[in-house]
Amino acid sequence: MKKTDISIGWTEYEPGEDPGRERTELILAAIKASGNAYAPYSGFRVGAALRLENGKIISGCNVENAAFPSGVCAERNAIAAASSSMPGVTPVAIAIAASGGEGFTAEPVPPCGNCRQVIAEEEYRNGRKIEIILYGTNKTIVIQGVDNLLPLKFNTKNLSQGSP
Ligand code: THU
Repeated sequence: MKKTDISIGWTEYEPGEDPGRERTELILAAIKASGNAYAPYSGFRVGAALRLENGKIISGCNVENAAFPSGVCAERNAIAAASSSMPGVTPVAIAIAASGGEGFTAEPVPPCGNCRQVIAEEEYRNGRKIEIILYGTNKTIVIQGVDNLLPLKFNTKNLSQGSP
């Protein structure tokens, strides 16, 4: 028998603390993108902004659907937009901000499991960790790579292992 323990971590910034100019710029882009959300069913408006290695920022918002599972999260829409409009340009950071009607959430909103999996694939295919910035009015969380959110993940290596 072998037991494995891993540790995960992140950094928190209080409202008065400056997370840095580029992070603040990305958070503002995510806040702006949340204004484009189509969220008539949940009323939960999410924005995500991706910074690419060339400095460009590509945003996305959640787009819901009457057939609920057909709705797509902000993070995956931002990644799909970047992937299709700027193919081959590596994402280096993503910021996420959400408002539930009463202004932006006090606690930062972490990406759902599906979005974590998609962020993991981006890291894998580009060979570079993505900084994940979660904005809340009480604090901002900065996470260095999706390993901290999805430690034991399924990836392409598991697929090839299963091939005949
Ligand atoms: N949502 C996101 O856009 N990102 C997440 O990581 C969590 C959830 C959206 C999906 C749905 O439109 C609404 O928030 C409520 O779940």
